[in-house]
Amino acid sequence: MSAPSIELQGVKGTRDFYPEDMRIRQWLFAHWRAVAERFGYEEYDACVLEHEELYIRKAGDEITGQLYNFADKGGRRVALRPEMTPSLARMVMAKGAALALPLRWYAIPQCFRYENMQRGRKREHFQWNMDIIGLPGVAAEAELMAAQVAFLARVGLDTGRERPSVVIRVNNRQLIQELLLQRGIDGQLFPAVCVVIDKRDKIGDAATAAALHGLGIDASVATDILAVLSARGLEPVAALLPPDAPGLAALRTLHELADAYGFGHLLQIDLSVIRGLSYYTGLVWEVFATGGAFPRAIAGGGRYDRLVETLGGTPTPMVGFGFGDVVILEILADQGLLPPLARSVDDVIYPLTSRQFACAIELATALRAGQRRVSIDFSERRFKHAIQRAEQDGARRLLIIGEDEAASRTCTVRILGGERQEAKVPFAELMGSGS
Ligand code: HAM
Repeated sequence: MSAPSIELQGVKGTRDFYPEDMRIRQWLFAHWRAVAERFGYEEYDACVLEHEELYIRKAGDEITGQLYNFADKGGRRVALRPEMTPSLARMVMAKGAALALPLRWYAIPQCFRYENMQRGRKREHFQWNMDIIGLPGVAAEAELMAAQVAFLARVGLDTGRERPSVVIRVNNRQLIQELLLQRGIDGQLFPAVCVVIDKRDKIGDAATAAALHGLGIDASVATDILAVLSARGLEPVAALLPPDAPGLAALRTLHELADAYGFGHLLQIDLSVIRGLSYYTGLVWEVFATGGAFPRAIAGGGRYDRLVETLGGTPTPMVGFGFGDVVILEILADQGLLPPLARSVDDVIYPLTSRQFACAIELATALRAGQRRVSIDFSERRFKHAIQRAEQDGARRLLIIGEDEAASRTCTVRILGGERQEAKVPFAELMGSGS
């Protein structure tokens, strides 16, 4: 009787990364790192396992319901992080005054959310984060957006004026707060209202109005709020508010700075951009790809000046974004912008029999010390197979060691991938030249 077979698919919503997938992932991460470092950010990390309490928020954030959480063997409530921001806040609080602000930090954490799976949403994803800690002005937001745009342009997406394939939709939660206040809604309800109206696109106007009503808001006021939140563009939005409304000036300055960076044409002021996380306090934004059949959110960010305070620390202005790997890779694939990344090694050493293994190992060790990427074909298969396999593996040279070669400490060097070229070369020459 055969043994029961195991489940071959990974856990639902998670991905396996075979070497060909890993090449793409590393390519993406390398671009993320390069951009962050070019803007002067330092990389940090934390453990994927966090204190559950970091994610429990009163406002009813969706993320709280999506936690992978459990008690560990010591009875501690822990969770796989669904996002990096609370860990960042914890790390900043833990060092306190020892940190010289402002800080510019980035990370590429893997995050886990028990999501309703749909296109572009998985239960595990990697998320590029860049955050600035300790800078209260909108120059911080503009810099973070500039880094996002720099990345998008770097991987080949059109960010130009004519036909850009992305837009940055921006809002300021202070404006929403002001508009709600005008309608008699007290600031205390504010984070919960934000969480509800953030779902509007998904659940529709009627269900959003009903949910607002559930928070104690009058039906007519709820309908009015939804109408107001449909405003787009700086001037139509400004018209709804007193000229000195807090938050309007920040949007105007953002436009100026974005123009200086050269991405002002990508900004769209949009009161419907709320963002589902209740800790945001000021500017919030989402980057949308507009190229396909429908706009897709590819990244989101915002200012969260009170998160550290709500966790019990001293008020610390913070702002940042998260940029997932799933949607951007789909978009780049759709647009043919993923590079062909073949496996490649420099040399495959092919000892004809096991009697030449020691000699092959010696040569490989010397070549590796000279920074070449070398693998040894220990299969003892026929020459034809060895060549085929070395070519498949992207090798540039096959170094053949038979009995005669081993005795004379030479090998037959076959250049792969073109016309047949072969030469006998002494080990000393191969080891010395590094070529
Ligand atoms: P978020 O909007 O929840 O923000 O996530 C940011 C990005 O992560 C999304 O735009 C998307 O690209 C990606 N993402 C989120 N959930 C999934 C999922 N289930 N599957 C695939 N991709 C996903 C935050 O997480 C904030 N902590 C970002 C931030 C950093 N704000 C300030 N600093």
